[in-house]
Amino acid sequence: MLSLLVLISGGGSNLRSLLEASEDAEYPARVVAIGADRDADGLGLGEEFGIPTFAVNYGSYPDRAAWGDALLEQIRIWQPDLVILSGLMRLLPPRVVAALSPNLINTHPAYLPEFPGAHGVRDALAAGATQTGASIIVVDGGVDAGPIIAQERVAIEAGDSEAALHERIKLVERRLLVQAVLDIANGHVNLKEHSPA
Ligand code: GAR
Repeated sequence: MLSLLVLISGGGSNLRSLLEASEDAEYPARVVAIGADRDADGLGLGEEFGIPTFAVNYGSYPDRAAWGDALLEQIRIWQPDLVILSGLMRLLPPRVVAALSPNLINTHPAYLPEFPGAHGVRDALAAGATQTGASIIVVDGGVDAGPIIAQERVAIEAGDSEAALHERIKLVERRLLVQAVLDIANGHVNLKEHSPA
């Protein structure tokens, strides 16, 4: 059984898909803890699904490195096999990436390497793209630049709002995430082979 620790900043709707998938006894992964960099709404899923939660508030630390060290300390308590950034809207400091790599993956609402960063959906719309997508990557030291382990295209429709497009992308993200975790758990995807250089 693959143990997962999921880090969020927002509502955690993709996390919910993972929690629902892992209610199936046949699914070979379980979320052992949910963490956040703020008082994220998605932490409420912990109570709903009986999973421990923690918040390491970014604003309570003098800098990114100090925040990262505190976050790593919390993560280590749970000894997870895999850490998933599921809407964590902070860059992890290099020390944290190095400590967890390659067992550290991220979901992103664009077809990487297109539209990396915090506003992947907005940037695709602003660029006038006709299609975007969803990606699951192994985290490296860059911004959404690590090796891609799964991705799929999503069409942009005329008149799409950022919210409507993001919601359609998330439908794909959720499926990709649940499948990627399954593939990692059953050995079809070997993260060591996708290790960032
Ligand atoms: C997801 O679309 C995720 O890919 C994105 O935040 C959303 C979280 O939604 N992450 C990024 O943009 C990271 N660059 P959720 O909280 O409803 O799961």
